[in-house]
Formats: sequence, C-alpha cells, structure tokens
Amino acid sequence: MSSRRLPRAVAALLGLVLLAGLGYALRWRSNPSPCPYAQRHAIDLPRPVITRSRLCGILEPRPGERLLEVGPGTGYYTGTVARAVEPSGTVHAVDVQSEMVEHLRTRTRAAGNLPVEPVRGDARALPYPDDTFDAAYLVLVLGEVPDQERALDELERVLKPGGRLVVGESLPDPHFVGFERLRRRAERRGLTFDGRVGTRAGYFARFDASAAERPPR
Ligand SMILES: C[S@@+](CC[C@H](N)C(=O)[O-])C[C@H]1O[C@@H](n2cnc3c(N)ncnc32)[C@H](O)[C@@H]1O
Repeated sequence: MSSRRLPRAVAALLGLVLLAGLGYALRWRSNPSPCPYAQRHAIDLPRPVITRSRLCGILEPRPGERLLEVGPGTGYYTGTVARAVEPSGTVHAVDVQSEMVEHLRTRTRAAGNLPVEPVRGDARALPYPDDTFDAAYLVLVLGEVPDQERALDELERVLKPGGRLVVGESLPDPHFVGFERLRRRAERRGLTFDGRVGTRAGYFARFDASAAERPPR
C-alpha cells in the first residue's frame, strides 16, 4: 500500500466506525431501553460535571428523610445520598433490572449496611402509595424509560406536598433529555422549577412539588 493510500484507508475506516456508532446511538435513542448490566463499568466512571457533591448540593438530603432514587444502576450516587439521611432516614432505590438491584444490595452491604432499600420496580408504576417521599432523584434514567410522561406522573404522585425532585442528565448519553423539554414537562405537572447546576450539556435540575394537599383521587 502506498503512503498516500494508507491515510485514505484509515480515514475511510474511521468514517465507517463513526457512522456505525452514530447509527447505534440513533437506534438506541429511538428505542428507549435500560442500559444493559454488561455496561456497568462504563456507568461507574468518574463524572466531572454531574458529581456526587453537586447532586447533594441541589437535592439537599437531610437526616431522617425518606428518599427515592429511580434507576440507581450500580449505585454511583446512592451511598453518598444515604449517608446524608443517616441515622434514621432511608433511600429507596428502584431499578427495573434485577442484576442492578442485586449489585446495589451487595455494594451497600460492603459499605457497612447503609440505609438503602434496593427494590426491583418500574419508573412507570412505582410500588409506593401517594405522598411517600420527601425527595426523589434520577440520573441518566429518564431517557431510558419508554413512557417518560408516565414516569414523571409517578414521581409527582409519590412526592409529599412540597417534596423535591432532582433530574440529572449528561451528554454523550444517547438517551440525554434536554433541560428545556424536561422543564416544560415538569411544569405541566405542577412541579415548579427551583434551580439548575452544571451546563446545558450536563446538569442537575430541581423541581418542587406543590405544597398544597392534593385533592383525593
Ligand atoms: C444509565 S444507567 C444510570 C444509573 C445511575 N443512575 C447512574 O447515574 O449511575 C440507567 C439505569 O436506569 C435503570 N432504568 C431504566 N429504565 C428504567 C425504568 N423504567 N424503571 C426503573 N429503572 C430503570 C436501568 O436499569 C439502569 O440501571
């Protein structure tokens, strides 16, 4: 192969790899599905923008509170938040994949029995009564849920009046949910925008549920 043809071949190969990657990401985006357990190492990598301390700063977990995490995966954030609600609070962590639930159970035990209740369940039908939680959070999850509207309805339902909801999103997650879209959807449900940290490409956004008692359903 001549020295002029080699770069062209390499460029063509790179182009193909890029196209395949783009096709994969587009297909994944239009077919929301849970991040496979086989990719658990990728979700445990350090995150420069959506950090644990930023999450705690905007979520404001307090000792004694009952919190909900939807889609904890392997528990990147769970332990940090659980320590903030000790000694009498609990983080209920609901994931749709049983491998993730078991992984989280093992991780929290190894960390010294943190106050975490791993539960297998679906964001679209949360296994809790109305008005259960002081706060809820989900990071890199909403875009994986096939019916995001339903998931937001459920989150609003299980929050106590005045409860906090924090949603975290970051590129290059193929299921990234943009902030403006999220805000419109949340506000349609009476969740009031209360601040955002990070950037448009990687953020935590906080919404507060109405403080008024909801009418009986
Ligand atoms: C990309 S991972 C993020 C995990 C974790 N939040 C983090 O930031 O490391 C998405 C997680 O959401 C879970 N998930 C996806 N769809 C779900 C649903 N409908 N209900 C509950 N969990 C879901 C997946 O199983 C997976 O553990």
